[in-house]
Amino acid sequence: MRHFLNVSTHGEAVGSLGFEPREDRYDFRYADDWRGRRDAFPLSPHIGLNGEMPPTGTLQRFIGNLLPEGRALDVASIVYQISKDNIYGLIRMLGREPVGALSFLASDDAPLADQRQESGAETRRIVGEEELTERIRDRDTIPFPVWDRRVRLSVAGYQDKLQVLLEGRQMSLVDGGALSSTHILKPESRNPGTPFMVANEHFCMTLAAQMGLPAAPVTLRRVPEPILLIERFDRHVTRAQGDPGRVDAVRRLHVIDGCQALDLPVSFKYERNFGNTKDVRSIREGVSFAKLFSLAPHFVTPAVARTFMTRWAVFQLLIGNSDAHGKNLSFFMQRGGLAPAPLYDLVSVNAYGEMVEQEMAMSYGDAFRLEEITPFELASFAQRTGVQPRYLAREIVRMAQAARSLAPGLARSELYVGDERALLESVARFIDRQAERLLAIAPEVPKVDRKLL
Ligand SMILES: Nc1ncnc2c1ncn2[C@@H]1O[C@H](COP(=O)(O)OP(=O)(O)OP(=O)(O)O)[C@@H](O)[C@H]1O
Ligand SMILES: [Mg+2]
Repeated sequence: MRHFLNVSTHGEAVGSLGFEPREDRYDFRYADDWRGRRDAFPLSPHIGLNGEMPPTGTLQRFIGNLLPEGRALDVASIVYQISKDNIYGLIRMLGREPVGALSFLASDDAPLADQRQESGAETRRIVGEEELTERIRDRDTIPFPVWDRRVRLSVAGYQDKLQVLLEGRQMSLVDGGALSSTHILKPESRNPGTPFMVANEHFCMTLAAQMGLPAAPVTLRRVPEPILLIERFDRHVTRAQGDPGRVDAVRRLHVIDGCQALDLPVSFKYERNFGNTKDVRSIREGVSFAKLFSLAPHFVTPAVARTFMTRWAVFQLLIGNSDAHGKNLSFFMQRGGLAPAPLYDLVSVNAYGEMVEQEMAMSYGDAFRLEEITPFELASFAQRTGVQPRYLAREIVRMAQAARSLAPGLARSELYVGDERALLESVARFIDRQAERLLAIAPEVPKVDRKLL
């Protein structure tokens, strides 16, 4: 029997997603009205508006990439009694407000706005600071994504998080109708090996912004548990006239991540898609810089894509972020093609030492570890990505100088307290060492003989 979900945006039909469970077969048809609209956008570059059926597996991969990972996925599967492989069943339950502009609604679901009017229900489920602190402290017993017996998380990623509507200091859960979430809220990591992640991510995101990189704006708040509030770039907020603290409407913008843009499954988010043990380390079918840069022709402006990806790559070297994988960069999906979205999930993983994986998610040339970076490997990176070595060297110098001059002051900011300060000071010292090393390497990159690469 074929099942289907209505795919819509702001109550407008985009298309219909069909699923034949015994065959595990998906299909998708755009609504004719949608295809005719001037502001129509495709789900992804691989699910074109031309009406052709996408290649086998593309729809599964697209949907799989929308789902949470890690514990949130376990929790959703337990709460709704749906197997973790049943991505159709999961998107049916979690698909009201995934990242991007789309809602996936079962045909018997009333459109979100109508449902609310009928029930007269309050659209905002307010989350007070006291309740939030309690829920963060009780995470081991009550899973963080579950609120009022519903899984309130439908954003990808491993870490605990929540999508919230932020109005001044007030935080609420909303259902993805007229009001969608405006921020992603992250508490500290549950892993004792990675303390002060809130401060770490706040620091790295702020450093990126101070360096002039487009990074999603972040706020560190203590409720009193520390939380990071990340402004969503896939949301456009209209505030109430006369009351700027109140949100009137939230428009959703369509974005896709690196895996979706490349039509790769979640399991390909690291270049070494089977891990780095000896027997499989040579298998590198996952997202790599070469693959990401091959997306340039899909961009509205290919040159902008190359600049964006080069800077994204260099910044990870400066902060020592080994977890910059294929789902940690995203693109706006517009009718005319892709455009880079702001940076997010920037963390100095290096701060936690060898207890945490320090192998980079993607190799620079063939170097997966920071200490293996040499002029040769960076020249090889340039060759594989089609970037001019001279340009790469210039960007490295500019960014390294900016990072080392800004990091120490930022680490001393009054915003950070207690042991966060020691961690950030060690991050700033690391950035300084990395910058120095990269400044020494950069001028050698254009000199590497291309015939040797
Ligand atoms: N500011 C933002 N605006 C819109 N979408 C975002 C934003 N930040 C993150 N996302 C989306 O949410 C997903 C999860 O966010 P993020 O990467 O910060 O979480 P994470 O759990 O720390 O990830 P990881 O699994 O890489 O550790 C991202 O993959 C991206 O699709
Ligand atoms: Mg992430």
